[in-house]
Amino acid sequence: MKRTPGKGVDVKVDNVIHEYGDLRVLDGVNMDIAAGETLCVLGGSGTGKSVLVRLMAGLEVPTSGEIQIGGMLVPEYAALPPDEKPFLVSMVFQHSALLGSLTVEENITLRMREHRTHSEKDMHSICEQVLDEVEMGGSNNKLPGELSGGMKKRVALARALAVNPDLLFYDEPTAELDPVLTEQIGLLIARVRRDRPITQVVVTHDMVIADIVADRVAMLGDGRIAEEGSYREFLASPDPGTRSFLEAARVLTSRDQADNKDKTGKDG
Ligand SMILES: Nc1ncnc2c1ncn2[C@@H]1O[C@H](COP(=O)(O)OP(=O)(O)OP(=O)(O)O)[C@@H](O)[C@H]1O
Ligand SMILES: [Mg+2]
Repeated sequence: MKRTPGKGVDVKVDNVIHEYGDLRVLDGVNMDIAAGETLCVLGGSGTGKSVLVRLMAGLEVPTSGEIQIGGMLVPEYAALPPDEKPFLVSMVFQHSALLGSLTVEENITLRMREHRTHSEKDMHSICEQVLDEVEMGGSNNKLPGELSGGMKKRVALARALAVNPDLLFYDEPTAELDPVLTEQIGLLIARVRRDRPITQVVVTHDMVIADIVADRVAMLGDGRIAEEGSYREFLASPDPGTRSFLEAARVLTSRDQADNKDKTGKDG
């Protein structure tokens, strides 16, 4: 099957339960993500965000329930050889996961090289294009060890974009970054949303990122999607779990909390 590059695919998560031994991490997750949408999955540490993204990316199989991408069950999609996949899925991992012994360009072209999908000349020009896209032009021959944390994140994003994905997963794209770098990475993800009609799922506990990039947010709590809506709706949510998340994330100032108290007539 020939694919049309980078057009965006929908994702359907249907009653997904996931357990490790006695520990039930996900307890019936349902989500519909539209093609071309950027969804932020929010939640506190240990709520199962990384597990959910690994299941959606086909890196693990759920205990029960189903995940479909572009109308295909994830295991069926994963079983197809690269040149028969009708769309491509890519991922930016929590800790960048660049191979330390390979240069930036070798890291970026590794997947294309393995798939034997492109000529050397094409790989080099794609590499130049995605490095420019993440504002890392000229770093082709650097080793990951020579890069700062923020630069590594940019290269990890360039590597994920190089295959021209239809669906891009990010797991904590701003973990370990300071507020300035966090905003810069957020603006890059927002630029991808603007320039490529692809679907993005950004798993994070960082509300700054959600504010910059999300078309919609979904809140993971107690193993389920507790709430979904726009970022603004989320900020105004009366749900106690959401409010304590927002307070812990220091998004709600004392003024917001006072405003909310006025609106609801009770403590926010
Ligand atoms: N491979 C595994 N084996 C056993 N337990 C696991 C495994 N992976 C995750 N868990 C457990 O699942 C729960 C959710 O983990 P997960 O890494 O998805 O949290 P998270 O929401 O991504 O947290 P953080 O914000 O800290 O990244 C945790 O209790 C974790 O210990
Ligand atoms: Mg995680």
